[in-house]
Amino acid sequence: MASTDKPGPGPETEKRQRILSGMRPTGKLHLGNFYGALYNWLQLQEEYQCHYFVADWHAITTEYESPQAIASYIPEMVMDWLSVGLDPDKSTIFVQSAIPEHAELYLIFGMFTPVPWLERNPTYKDQIQELAHKDLATYGFLGYPVLQAADILMYKAHGVPVGVDQVPHVEMTREIARRFNFLYKPIFPEPEALLTEIPKLTGTDGRKMSKSYNNCIYLSDPPEVISQKVRQMVTDTQRPFKKDPGEPDRCLAFPFHRLNLPGKRLEEITASCRAASLGCVECKLLLAEALLENLGPIQEKRRYYEAHPQEVMDILQAGNQKAREEARRTMAEVREAVGFHQEIQLWR
Ligand code: TRP
Repeated sequence: MASTDKPGPGPETEKRQRILSGMRPTGKLHLGNFYGALYNWLQLQEEYQCHYFVADWHAITTEYESPQAIASYIPEMVMDWLSVGLDPDKSTIFVQSAIPEHAELYLIFGMFTPVPWLERNPTYKDQIQELAHKDLATYGFLGYPVLQAADILMYKAHGVPVGVDQVPHVEMTREIARRFNFLYKPIFPEPEALLTEIPKLTGTDGRKMSKSYNNCIYLSDPPEVISQKVRQMVTDTQRPFKKDPGEPDRCLAFPFHRLNLPGKRLEEITASCRAASLGCVECKLLLAEALLENLGPIQEKRRYYEAHPQEVMDILQAGNQKAREEARRTMAEVREAVGFHQEIQLWR
């Protein structure tokens, strides 16, 4: 293995920048997941070499009492990914726990990651508070960002599309890469977080759309359920009657209008809301229609995968295999850099 002065750019044959992101399997995806993450993933796969994976080990850091549920969520989530258009011909789609190399890299990174870096991590502190009902004073939960660094650096990703809450983890990944490169050999690039403008989407009750609040519109909800949920959405609370002029900026349903209605329609609706000629009930009916139209093809694709579960498994197996080959290559470099004797590791 030739050593280089700078962090290695990765395999020479592929010039496109590498993108990697993961999602914890929490079940079916909702519109918040779609607009907050997946939508961005879809656009990136057109231009970059993308790796998208199911972070099931990360899920177990908080759900260690019920790992069986996590296993059943994996195909549900991947079906949603495929239905919205993640394409296994363009992106490598895989499952973290199928690639044991992640665990090995995580272990090696753990050797030199200072515990105070982990204890200071703001996302860690927030989560411990938010999930106060769970015992998260565990070694695994503290090490969450180290595992994430292993996920990212294994594939020498340049860009990591994530939400703001994950920025500290990408920052720590950079620090871990720097430390590895300095201590052993410069093989890892320092990845950047790719933040998207995430629209502020609230659930049907006006709080953040979240599975734990039971206020989500799921990509796979049947049409009548979607219509009903849209009807429940909180609009401009300062407009008690239709005859009062409304303000779309105060309406919690309006961000969904923005995402689902074409520009011209949006302008018309904005104007008629302000002019008090369009009532909220009617306006939400228009939204439900547009949403159903946009989700139609996605739901049709999902029904196809539901009827062909083996195809989903085949896609994952092929993705796992591709990812594993890359992971093996990185680990050979890592072991060489750290100084293990490859020839006596017969289990390889
Ligand atoms: N921690 C991420 C989240 O909760 C999931 C994740 C795990 C991830 N490994 C990753 C995201 C690597 C990006 C890159 O959203």
